[in-house]
Amino acid sequence: PLAPTAQLVADARAEGLGLGAFNVIAIEHAEAIVAGAETAGAPVILQISENAVKFHHGKLAPIALATAAIAKDATVPVALHLDHVESESLWRQAPALGFGSVMVDASKLPYDENVAATAHAVEYLRSHGLYVESELGKVGGKEGEEPLGAHAPGARTDPGEALSYVEATGVDALAVAVGSSHAMTSRDAALDHELIARIAAAVPVPLVLHGSSGVPDGELARAVTAGMVKINIGTALNIAFTGAVRDYLDAEPAAVDPRKYVKAGREAMAATVAHFLGVLRDPA
Ligand code: G3H
Ligand code: ZN
Repeated sequence: PLAPTAQLVADARAEGLGLGAFNVIAIEHAEAIVAGAETAGAPVILQISENAVKFHHGKLAPIALATAAIAKDATVPVALHLDHVESESLWRQAPALGFGSVMVDASKLPYDENVAATAHAVEYLRSHGLYVESELGKVGGKEGEEPLGAHAPGARTDPGEALSYVEATGVDALAVAVGSSHAMTSRDAALDHELIARIAAAVPVPLVLHGSSGVPDGELARAVTAGMVKINIGTALNIAFTGAVRDYLDAEPAAVDPRKYVKAGREAMAATVAHFLGVLRDPA
């Protein structure tokens, strides 16, 4: 069934477990993520990013409504999250389309402008009962940016500034820069666990790890133990999907029915989801 993001995050935090939040690009991602979560017996978040909306010709409703329908039919609790939103016209659509939460991404802006833009979104979204995440410290590797190498120093979130930011914006959850980077296709990011623990101790809200595809299993488990709650995973699903489709088409060069190779890709994504959820729910 559909569940509020606030509830799933609160439950995971209380239990000391990680909550997997996986990116939906096409309907098959939503089907695969729910299948993987059902295999793992775990609640899950389906998230649609502004970049995915751009892929769907700027339309949120078709993919959001399909994703919501898949969530409602699931045997595990599933929340809907609108991810990395920079455009106000997009976050304003979230309440009517069944989203339980939005990540308002003003992290490109200078601190004061980030605070103002985020607080403005919080006011509207909160009044519609939504849960709001935002980012301080700029996790690199987003589309259109220079990719950060796995061991590049990158940006880091300052614990004191994180507390001021949470108080000034009123956000419910905070995405922090602690060593991960978006869109990594290798799993060798090293996280700053000491910084995660210091930020978790400094701020009252749950922390969110972005760019988790590039983080090895052991590092993810340690991050959850140190206080990370929502763990965002996107690229790993696309690696699994594309690898399986490529293998299928290499083996069957005469294939033309997309149901055949997309099914292979969907099954590979579901297995990847189940694997990550196992790691996040057994952090010790
Ligand atoms: O918000 C989405 C995530 O941060 C996904 O990042 O594609 O590097 O796993 P990733
Ligand atoms: Zn992200």
